[in-house]
Amino acid sequence: MTSSLRTVGVVGAGCIGATVCVDFVVHGFRVVAVDLDDAALRDTRTLLHEVNRFLPAVRPGLTRLAPKEAMERLVTSTDLAALAECEFVVENVSERWEVKRDLYQQLDKVLPAGVGIGVNTSSIPVGRLAAETTRPDLVVGIHFMNPSYLKESVEVMRGEATSDNCLDQVRDLLTALGKQAVVVGDFPGFVSNRISHLFFNEAIRTVQDQGVDPAAVDEIFKKCFGHTMGPLETADLIGLDTVLLTLENLHDSYRDDRYDGCALLRDMVRSGRLGRKTGQGFYHYRGAGAAVTNTTGDAR
Ligand SMILES: NC(=O)c1ccc[n+]([C@@H]2O[C@H](COP(=O)([O-])OP(=O)(O)OC[C@H]3O[C@@H](n4cnc5c(N)ncnc54)[C@H](O)[C@@H]3O)[C@@H](O)[C@H]2O)c1
Repeated sequence: MTSSLRTVGVVGAGCIGATVCVDFVVHGFRVVAVDLDDAALRDTRTLLHEVNRFLPAVRPGLTRLAPKEAMERLVTSTDLAALAECEFVVENVSERWEVKRDLYQQLDKVLPAGVGIGVNTSSIPVGRLAAETTRPDLVVGIHFMNPSYLKESVEVMRGEATSDNCLDQVRDLLTALGKQAVVVGDFPGFVSNRISHLFFNEAIRTVQDQGVDPAAVDEIFKKCFGHTMGPLETADLIGLDTVLLTLENLHDSYRDDRYDGCALLRDMVRSGRLGRKTGQGFYHYRGAGAAVTNTTGDAR
């Protein structure tokens, strides 16, 4: 490890947070994961077990840990006070301003002075959250991509108050995870989501308005443009609820109707078709999230 840190906290162990916990553990860190939902914490332990089992295949170069050791490195709790022993905390709770705002006020109370917070948000400016704490210099955006343990780069958002030391600490932390930091400024959606969410919304609108098969949309981006995943597969992986919340934040911020989540996306979220996390989105998923068929039933 290149980082001097040993124990990292992860708050919010949902769709992305679970993968961040796993990434830290398989790279040698001890992790304290906190979530309000016991089921999310249980699922995180299951994910760690599975990823560790196939580790050399999942992430070449990493050595599989003894199962007991892997599990011992991941401590889970529903109580924020468990984070008091952490040297750095990554926050991944739901993409709602009120939820994050309340959490940052609480985190500021439970974390010792000097402990930094990495904001893993899709659209909320880091400076807005930093302002809810008494340590704005120690708050920095770390936009992990999903699933974190497979990704080699991370978008890092430097807030106006983020200190050089905090940024250096995060670069070291990411190096220890085998990742490169791409540092950008602090504006709603940053580079990645300011652009990608227009693309997701328009892809969904194309299915809605033109009746195009979701598989055809994704195939065009994979086979013609050479993307690894199509926009609808990516939206399913992120979670359509999180995609819609992100679009709503971007719509509020930029007052640009291109970010107005389209009717089909809203219908799917309302009916609980959230993508991989619920087993149904633009595609059907069986077991641990493997794409099997699209919603029109075509085999994939
Ligand atoms: N899904 C992705 O691919 C992705 C990628 C990068 C960043 N993000 C961002 O990460 C954050 C989480 O997204 P997600 O898709 O994992 O959402 P999610 O809804 O799947 O998970 C959120 C988790 O936060 C927990 N939670 C909510 N309030 C909490 C609190 N006060 N204390 C502790 N736990 C709490 C929930 O129980 C849930 O398990 C969002 O800000 C999102 O924009 C998501």
